[in-house]
Amino acid sequence: MVEVVETARGRGGELVLRRDGDAFEVIENGVFLMDTRNGESERLLVTGALSPGASVLIGGLGVGFSLRAALDGGAASVVVVEREPAVIAWNRSGPLRTVHADALADPRVRLVEADLVPWLSGTSERFDALCLDIDNGPEWTVTEGNAHLYSEAGLARLAGLLNPGGVLAVWSAGAAPVFAARLRAHFGKVCEVPVEVPRGEPDVLWFAQR
Ligand SMILES: C[S@@+](CC[C@H](N)C(=O)[O-])C[C@H]1O[C@@H](n2cnc3c(N)ncnc32)[C@H](O)[C@@H]1O
Repeated sequence: MVEVVETARGRGGELVLRRDGDAFEVIENGVFLMDTRNGESERLLVTGALSPGASVLIGGLGVGFSLRAALDGGAASVVVVEREPAVIAWNRSGPLRTVHADALADPRVRLVEADLVPWLSGTSERFDALCLDIDNGPEWTVTEGNAHLYSEAGLARLAGLLNPGGVLAVWSAGAAPVFAARLRAHFGKVCEVPVEVPRGEPDVLWFAQR
């Protein structure tokens, strides 16, 4: 039986944390956002972009699968940008903490509570890997403002935030052909990776380098 653990008013709308047996689910504005059942593509988003000693940016904490993968993969530093205080609390001291073995307590991690879109415009930091998973995909965003990230201007900004040889990695719950074409126009090398999931369309990851 599915049980509501907590409901919170978030910056992007209503957030619900649910438990279904051993699994937790995060729902935003009635739209499924993330659960703790699998996490294969969320981990690959990071391991596919990571080199040992890398500086990593993770957009969207979720349930911390990507963050745990960055730490286990040997990242030297990880900045996590997450806009929802409730998601942060559930991961820091709530039921999601054990999902990633308290990854937020690792000294390599800096958690920034902010909307990723304006934060990226304002930062002067540069990264070896930018790993973005804040939406169901570039063509299915959870809030309208997130769409900027995948636009011409958003991709130009992301390209400028990468160190030489750095990798931009983007997660999607399915194909996004218009975005993929735009990405190829901005980056010299783009690799599209489908990841099979237990039910439905494969997740899709893109790894892009200048
Ligand atoms: C699908 S989950 C991320 C899953 C994550 N990769 C993992 O391994 O669990 C998306 C996360 O992005 C956050 N988010 C959505 N829009 C955001 C934004 N504009 N800025 C920062 N975080 C955002 C959501 O609150 C949510 O925690």
